[in-house]
Amino acid sequence: MSQQTIDAKNAEFWNELCGTWLARTLGITDVSPETLRRFDEAYLAFYPYLEKYVTKQNLKGKKVLEIGLGYGTLGQFLAQQDSDYYGLDIAQGPVDMMRYRLTQLGRQSSYKVQLGSALDIPYPDESFDYVYSIGCLHHTGNLGKAVSEVYRVLIPGGKAIVMLYNQHSFRQLVTIPLTRLRSLFVADGRTFAEHIRAMYDMNSGGEAAPFTEYVSQTKVKHLFQSFSQIKIDIQNFDTYILFRGRVIIPREKLLNNLARLIGLDLYITATK
Ligand SMILES: C[S@@+](CC[C@H](N)C(=O)[O-])C[C@H]1O[C@@H](n2cnc3c(N)ncnc32)[C@H](O)[C@@H]1O
Repeated sequence: MSQQTIDAKNAEFWNELCGTWLARTLGITDVSPETLRRFDEAYLAFYPYLEKYVTKQNLKGKKVLEIGLGYGTLGQFLAQQDSDYYGLDIAQGPVDMMRYRLTQLGRQSSYKVQLGSALDIPYPDESFDYVYSIGCLHHTGNLGKAVSEVYRVLIPGGKAIVMLYNQHSFRQLVTIPLTRLRSLFVADGRTFAEHIRAMYDMNSGGEAAPFTEYVSQTKVKHLFQSFSQIKIDIQNFDTYILFRGRVIIPREKLLNNLARLIGLDLYITATK
């Protein structure tokens, strides 16, 4: 696929807000502040480690760029730290949602949240103290370029907090090989790569995200080699552990142990 095709497919696919599955589960159909508060509470309860990547930093008065906005929970939380918040996304839906959220907070929103690509960040070199990008750069089609763009727009000493999918997760090491074995016998009409992408990101029509990369910690160190310091945490876990079709360990019980070893996501904190 050419870069232009990936960008166009991303703009279309992600126009449906990432997190729509959660909104449906909660019976959410509107965007009143009360409804969004309910969504955010559920989102942050599902990813309980996320808040500390924000609160550990002192963002007050700092210029913060978020790339890949989704439903806007993290963006709103970043803005509420009294930071000077900017947002960027390739799809119109997330841009509109974040502008709406900022307006609700009484903030200037239209020029601060832009439609655009992580591969061509529309800001000059050394513009930001922080860049947050959770679950986005691995969808761009060019992870190397995306990380170099993040590096470019950070000030010296600035920090990037980036989540990428872990290539050495339980899902990749166990679930996917088992699924592949099963797929030799049961065809579901899509390629195996598509099937895997759908395990990570699927829209309400059952379609998989157009492009997804999975990275090892070694690859991350290579990608972020220009940064002066880098720390990698492993977080998040699939669903639960099943034995003979019964849930024997629920997901929340795995987040502080197994997930820290073979979890789904790599959280990278990198200092320029
Ligand atoms: C999986 S969602 C993550 C959203 C949010 N950060 C979260 O964790 O819930 C990926 C987001 O990245 C955005 N995205 C995908 N490709 C992009 C690109 N090339 N540039 C900027 N944003 C992109 C999508 O539109 C979508 O909002």
